Amino acid sequence: MKTISLMSAKGGCSKTTTSINIAVGLSETGKVLLVDLDPQGNSSKRFFSNYLELDGICELLRKEKTYDECIHHTKFPNLDIIPSKRNLFVLKKEMLYASHGIQQLRLKNVLDPIRKDYDYIIIDNHPDIDLLISNALMCSDMVIIPVNPDADNIMFSDSIEGMNLTLTNIKEAIDEGEIAEMDFRILLTMTDRTRASQIFEDYLRSAYGDLVLKTDINYQSAPVKNKNRSGFVIEKDDTRIGRNYQSLVDEIRSLS
Ligand SMILES: Nc1ncnc2c1ncn2[C@@H]1O[C@H](COP(=O)(O)OP(=O)(O)OP(=O)(O)O)[C@@H](O)[C@H]1O
Ligand SMILES: [Mg+2]
Repeated sequence: MKTISLMSAKGGCSKTTTSINIAVGLSETGKVLLVDLDPQGNSSKRFFSNYLELDGICELLRKEKTYDECIHHTKFPNLDIIPSKRNLFVLKKEMLYASHGIQQLRLKNVLDPIRKDYDYIIIDNHPDIDLLISNALMCSDMVIIPVNPDADNIMFSDSIEGMNLTLTNIKEAIDEGEIAEMDFRILLTMTDRTRASQIFEDYLRSAYGDLVLKTDINYQSAPVKNKNRSGFVIEKDDTRIGRNYQSLVDEIRSLS
């Protein structure tokens, strides 16, 4: 059983797109639980248009509802989801001021009893470094940090900074004894055939070596935005980005 977090302090680098597609891909051979830990609920809305009416991670963390009420089956036979919505912002604030218990361990305490029911748990995180991210780190075996060559920024400083903030946060959590160790990997996303994208990829692969996953995810907007697919590009093997995600799923399985 493995728990994988998609995490970066930089927004819009494909955390959600990657979370939902590897969750669907991994569910073809095993039971998968996707945890939406982003108060924006972006993963949740891909599965359920009525996600605002569903109980989910906030209710579980508050112990207000049962697992059966908060874990929802999806249209994919082996894939369940614990959805999220904006009340997670409120819970985050409550956690900051709580005077009881270890607040960093709340997600771990919720997930531990159900780990045995799944082969993989995938956690989609919001773009931040905060108490929710600490909660995700405390219960993850692996962190995948998606990094996209930001075409608007020739020095790629936003992309590198977002990745480095997350890497530093993981290293600090290890140094401070919060977590024992962490298998972290970098995933190149939204790559294209431009020279800038190639320079960025070459830099990352030479600077970070094997930490960079072999598979990169190309930029291909049409299938991601296709309303009928809701972002599940891996569902049919008929697009480049769908095949990229299939390769990524194979690579993740090979790391297990
Ligand atoms: N490989 C891709 N090719 C084209 N568009 C993509 C690709 N991956 C993601 N996108 C688009 O880029 C935007 C950001 O992607 P996504 O929501 O997955 O990022 P995120 O890191 O989860 O963002 P946030 O930080 O807000 O949670 C979305 O509009 C998504 O459809
Ligand atoms: Mg997201």
